[in-house]
Amino acid sequence: MGQAVLQIEGLRVSFRIRGNYYSAVDGVSLAVHRNEVLAIVGESGCGKSALALSVMGLHDPVKTRLEGSVLFEGADLLALDRRELNRFRGRKIGMIFQDPQSALNPLMTAGRQIGEALDYHTTLSAAQKKRRTLELLRMVGIEEAEAVGGRYPHELSGGLRQRVMIAIAIACEPALMIADEPTTALDVTIQAQIMDLLKELQRQTGAGIMLITHDMGVVAEMADRVAVMYGGELVETADATTLFERPLHPYTRSLLKSIPSLQAPDERLHVIRGMVPPLHLMPTSGCRFQSRIDWIPVSAHEERPQLREVEPGHWVRCTCYREFALAGNDSS
Ligand SMILES: Nc1ncnc2c1ncn2[C@@H]1O[C@H](COP(=O)(O)OP(=O)(O)O)[C@@H](O)[C@H]1O
Ligand SMILES: [Mg+2]
Repeated sequence: MGQAVLQIEGLRVSFRIRGNYYSAVDGVSLAVHRNEVLAIVGESGCGKSALALSVMGLHDPVKTRLEGSVLFEGADLLALDRRELNRFRGRKIGMIFQDPQSALNPLMTAGRQIGEALDYHTTLSAAQKKRRTLELLRMVGIEEAEAVGGRYPHELSGGLRQRVMIAIAIACEPALMIADEPTTALDVTIQAQIMDLLKELQRQTGAGIMLITHDMGVVAEMADRVAVMYGGELVETADATTLFERPLHPYTRSLLKSIPSLQAPDERLHVIRGMVPPLHLMPTSGCRFQSRIDWIPVSAHEERPQLREVEPGHWVRCTCYREFALAGNDSS
């Protein structure tokens, strides 16, 4: 594994809801290394975006309490003020969101927005900037760079908008890229192209990538390492091969079952019964997933389940998975 570009320690992100604070991220520690794709997976509502936004300092400071530390190039991002944070954001840390529409400025052409990213952070001449803008558009697979650069976001297809957003994110060759469900809104062909593109960019720049997704198929394609999140906590982390070969936590196993099978594409997708509870209903003791696996007796869950390293680099929370393996019944 390369050097860590991002080191998150004991991160807790709590939102104020009607006077009380509830933690959407509850004590997460993880690292992203150079040349690595770390996938963060979990169903909707598990705290993945709350985690990503805290790295970028994009939470509403009035309603959000942040605890722990987020180390990037020796600085704790949580301790920086907005101005200091801007030195990192967009330059050394590139961010790709699910919805390019909301990340792009509707009043500015694609080319100008890329130019502005370059403007803000580098000292290129106008001609150099123009050249670099076209180069970036071609890097993200846009052949007609000149034409596309001259268009406004609403004149572009979803796939092109996504590519423009990626071009902006990589404009300054960030050491870290955070991609939060980058292709969820796109069709599978474009999704595959964009994933290839991210891999290729990583080969060229050595960036570390934090890839957030609820799609285990994307994880299988892309990830070097996987962190599985449930109810604001990590429940399992391992390198991708280990996780797919020897998943231990019942939640991870359930997620893996939700991958559509190539052999039987018509087979109904396995869906995990129930839903991620809202923050104020999250269980406060025992395994947080226990309410969704009632065939494991409550006595099998620990009171305060901790992440433990069960083999080198493979961490699992809660010992309930042992019971789970005995039960041999993970379908609902
Ligand atoms: N700004 C906010 N204020 C209050 N609750 C929030 C806010 N953002 C997210 N949440 C809640 O935090 C939990 C985690 O949300 P999120 O991080 O968006 O999950 P994910 O990205 O994994 O789908 C959810 O229960 C969500 O409703
Ligand atoms: Mg999200």
